Amino acid sequence: MKAFFALVALAAGAAAQTASFLIPQPGATIAPGSTVTVQVHQDESTSDDVQLGIAIGLATCFSGTCANYDPAQDGMGTILYSGPFNPQFNSSDPEAGLQESFTLTFPGSTGPSVLSIAQMQAVGVNKIPTFNVVDVVIEMSD
Ligand SMILES: *[C@@H]1O[C@H](CO)[C@@H](O)[C@H](O)[C@H]1NC(C)=O
Repeated sequence: MKAFFALVALAAGAAAQTASFLIPQPGATIAPGSTVTVQVHQDESTSDDVQLGIAIGLATCFSGTCANYDPAQDGMGTILYSGPFNPQFNSSDPEAGLQESFTLTFPGSTGPSVLSIAQMQAVGVNKIPTFNVVDVVIEMSD
């Protein structure tokens, strides 16, 4: 029984806390070619997960809907940022939790689009390398 609980604890400890978009929200409109501040939230971890870096990409959904678009399978599109991710608390914006803002220049493309984050972390007490992708569907339009 003790071993069982230890295993459950290990499994729970290894579940990655992931990044997600605070800005933009789903359905937001972003003007093609504009420079926009994107805010990325990171769920807090009890095990001091180490952030290994992120990429942020924008893919246009040429079918006219992003309902079946999965950036992990179909691609991230244009990479708007790739590099370090160092989410911090900002006392001026406490409800955002651990967060980092990125000022990104969006491409001139229009239509429904998937903004995605690919994230690498070393998770849990043993620092298991972990990869995940999250996304938000936005509209590129003036
Ligand atoms: C903290 O949040 C305020 C208000 O949103 C912002 O103006 C400031 O640039 C932020 N500071 C950092 C270090 O991100």
